[in-house]
Amino acid sequence: MVNFEFLNPTKIIFGKGTIAQLGDEIKAHGGTKVLVHLGGGSVKKNGVYDQVINSLNAAGVSFVEQWGVRPNPRVKLIREGIEICRKENVDFILAVGGGSVIDSAKGVAVGVPYDGDVWDFYIGKAEPKTKLPVATVLTIPAAGSESSWSSVVTNDEGAFKRPLDDAVLFPAFSILDPEATYTLPPYQTACGVADMMAHVMERYFTNIQHVELTDRLCEATLKTIMNNVKTALSEPENYDARAEIMWSGTVAHNNILHMGRIGDWASHNIEHELSAVNDVAHGEGLAVIFPAWMKYVYKHDIQRFVQFASRVFNIENNFHEPERTALKGIDALETFFRSIGLSTKLSEIGIGEDKFDMIAVKVLKSDGKTAGNFVKLTAGDIKKILEIAK
Ligand code: NZQ
Ligand code: ZN
Repeated sequence: MVNFEFLNPTKIIFGKGTIAQLGDEIKAHGGTKVLVHLGGGSVKKNGVYDQVINSLNAAGVSFVEQWGVRPNPRVKLIREGIEICRKENVDFILAVGGGSVIDSAKGVAVGVPYDGDVWDFYIGKAEPKTKLPVATVLTIPAAGSESSWSSVVTNDEGAFKRPLDDAVLFPAFSILDPEATYTLPPYQTACGVADMMAHVMERYFTNIQHVELTDRLCEATLKTIMNNVKTALSEPENYDARAEIMWSGTVAHNNILHMGRIGDWASHNIEHELSAVNDVAHGEGLAVIFPAWMKYVYKHDIQRFVQFASRVFNIENNFHEPERTALKGIDALETFFRSIGLSTKLSEIGIGEDKFDMIAVKVLKSDGKTAGNFVKLTAGDIKKILEIAK
């Protein structure tokens, strides 16, 4: 294990009916005027919006609304949100939605007290020193942004999608009511599952030895997600399945699985460029890239891939043929993604070979000379992974 410090200050309020606590909780965190930040309208259809507004009104918390966050949130809307907050003297940001709404809300929160352009934070030109407090009401378990220190934002000028990671970005609190996820379409449920599994696997494939506890926590999280997703897809209002998936999504990315290890993150860096190029849903992009990345790097540590295959997919560990066992595990993952309705090929998500060079170069622009840690990938390596995924 490598040395580590663990901090995750986000308070989680989990379970049925918990959105009713929202207004009082904001007051307890000092919020007096709230920007309610929202997406494209799913929360109006499923009643979550009404629950939020009722709770704010019951607690006497005043608010303004900003709608229109798109999947793969854009910096343009964040800039508009910053202006609203300044004009309306907002002192608290509430995100109601998924990772895109939450990441956008975090962008607004760091942008309000900053004199320059908020995009500066995403290109490393400035570091956020402070922000307005952020809370979330999560409606799609996926990105883990409800208790992560990240915000991932797209700038249409140049088609860049960039992460900002900073401890100031942890939300103050997040409300997770699994009933709010009943209306998720199968495709969004599946994308969310692929993303949370990728968050676990980015951490799992590490060069650090003697990380047994976190290995086994990772494996348990992956198995729990896979054990419950089929039920969630066939019975969207199955509380228990939705609850298991929702909590798994948070655990996958709140850093508890990361302690003592060094994660990889090349697949995420590559996927962010797919989303920037073609507005691909993040989870589906990962279902395409992760198996291809695995096929490219497994020889670097076959035993780790054998462990993954045998412990996560119950594939018989044939000691005479470790490579075969490792490859069976990768195949099982790809088959699982397809079984929940996701594409696993670039051609299926509208990305042709003509884009491969450009994507490889852009991945490295966001990550220095190489991408990833398990195996440090050059632009040539990334291109080969894209070839495998085509
Ligand atoms: O916009 P609305 O109408 O709300 O519809 C959304 C959206 O179309 C819909 N949806 C959400 N909850 C729903 C619902 N539809 C019906 N019923 C509900 N209960 O789902 C669609 C997708 O929403 P989005 O927020 O984009 O999904 P997700 O949570 O997967 O977020 C993806 C974004 O998070 C970033 C990704 O890159 C991507 O931009 N990530 C953020 C991370 C972080 N901050 O820590 C880490 C991740 O690795 C990831 O990069
Ligand atoms: Zn992700």
